[in-house]
Amino acid sequence: MKFELQHTDPQTKARVGEITTDHGKIQTPIFMPVGTAGTVKAVQQRELKEDINADIILGNTYHLYLRPGLDTLEKAGGLHKFNGWDRPILTDSGGYQVFSLSGNRKINEEGVIFKSHIDGSKHVFTPENIMDIQRTIGADIIMAFDECTPYPADHRYAKESMERTHRWLKRCTEQFDSTEGKYGYSQTLFPIVQGSTYKDLRKQSAETIASFEREGNAIGGLSVGEPAEDMYEMTDLVTDILPKDKPRYLMGVGTPANILEGIACGVDMFDCVMPTRQARHGQLFTTQGIINIKNKRWEQDLSPIDAELGGYVSTFYSKAYLRHLIRSQELLGAQIASVHNLTFYLWLVRQAREHILAGDFREWKNIMVKKLMQRL
Ligand code: GUN
Repeated sequence: MKFELQHTDPQTKARVGEITTDHGKIQTPIFMPVGTAGTVKAVQQRELKEDINADIILGNTYHLYLRPGLDTLEKAGGLHKFNGWDRPILTDSGGYQVFSLSGNRKINEEGVIFKSHIDGSKHVFTPENIMDIQRTIGADIIMAFDECTPYPADHRYAKESMERTHRWLKRCTEQFDSTEGKYGYSQTLFPIVQGSTYKDLRKQSAETIASFEREGNAIGGLSVGEPAEDMYEMTDLVTDILPKDKPRYLMGVGTPANILEGIACGVDMFDCVMPTRQARHGQLFTTQGIINIKNKRWEQDLSPIDAELGGYVSTFYSKAYLRHLIRSQELLGAQIASVHNLTFYLWLVRQAREHILAGDFREWKNIMVKKLMQRL
């Protein structure tokens, strides 16, 4: 993997860059649609490429390991071959998913013992086997095995958890560096900063993560219930420490406003289930603000979903038709709304990129944060 930092905004810490992987280039800042089980829910690969034009998508180790399982993925030649997505893929390590199985998992120094949410069967994740599993899934960018410290956490627990994540990272890098990709292309490992909402811990974690000198770095443990101001403060502090010449990925973030503020803090990569999950519930992100398409207000509004956004589904289908589909729980409703919301998220980061290059990112961002978050 290669990262070229092409421009930095003089007024904020926003950056424009380009990541090159063996499956193609990623223009940053970028939003990565979440494809937990090897599918971005309700969206076909062809739509992801041609309508949404996503540069990279996500997969989840926890889900893919349990189903379809490693034998099938390896037989297929990795996830790209299995799901037909030939652009870059990033897999999260399971460090987040497994910890949300509260009651069904036990953590110790070795790793995590957990019960499958599918059939209750018992499994163990360790830093070593999580590297091997992600080698077999075959994503271009794989994540270190960490604990996403829950919020709120007292300082003592946050420190203990962060230090364990750092010890696990050492084991991840040793395992990763002593193994090779299975399918003829290269993979890279991103470590994850933790430290909850404590400045001293975030600083310490960012310094430790930077000292591993990997090709990219991630910031975890945010957008887990803390106030948005805390998330921005922690992100800002961490990006002052992480190396400038490597991409930074803020995990699981967020709303359109969160993403714009994250970009201003010097973050290059984002992912979140929000655009696809909310789409299935009828919440649409548009260039004019947020729409709850189920509201009566849209019953006879035959205007396009979002004419300004452009793109096939957003201009072809009307608000009234989409409202009807969502209210009737028609599958097409979830499909149209998901493609629309993802088209919007990719539009947002591409607009940000253009405004960083044009030199008016800060002013544009301040207007857009208000405009995009208003409820219509
Ligand atoms: N997704 C959102 N936050 C996190 C995190 O802290 N760790 C991991 N592995 N994934 C995440």
